[in-house]
Amino acid sequence: MEKPSQPPRGLSIGELARRSGVAVSALHFYEAKGLIASNRNAGNQRRYSRETLRRVAVIKMAQRVGIPLAEIAGALSELPQGRNPTAADWAVLSARWREDLDQRIAKLQMLRDQLDGCIGCGCLSLEACPLRNPGDQRAAEGPGAHWWAPD
Ligand code: FES
Repeated sequence: MEKPSQPPRGLSIGELARRSGVAVSALHFYEAKGLIASNRNAGNQRRYSRETLRRVAVIKMAQRVGIPLAEIAGALSELPQGRNPTAADWAVLSARWREDLDQRIAKLQMLRDQLDGCIGCGCLSLEACPLRNPGDQRAAEGPGAHWWAPD
């Protein structure tokens, strides 16, 4: 007698961790932040679809290039019906995140160049130091001392 077909079993959290190379604690964190989702089996244990492996890979790669988790979550939430990213989705996301990376590199290069001007200076001047007063923003706030906070 033939057995009735079983629904796909799904991956336990341990299997997902082992196959993705991501710690169980990180997977719990991703789930708490809405980056991945699970279903409960009859024993009330979490089960993840096999496609979650692809989603976790995208999350890790995006994190590796410094994309904030909130932005990753936003990008993944734009996928139709919460589906896991396809190769075409990854092509779009990676192109978008490359632009982000380019912008961050340009900003870091500018900051490095400004820091070069501080080396051996020591003035820490609100008027003269481009790192203390980027773009002379404090001039618009009027004379006197102003709070300073990095962007
Ligand atoms: S500390 Fe003098 S220019 Fe920055």
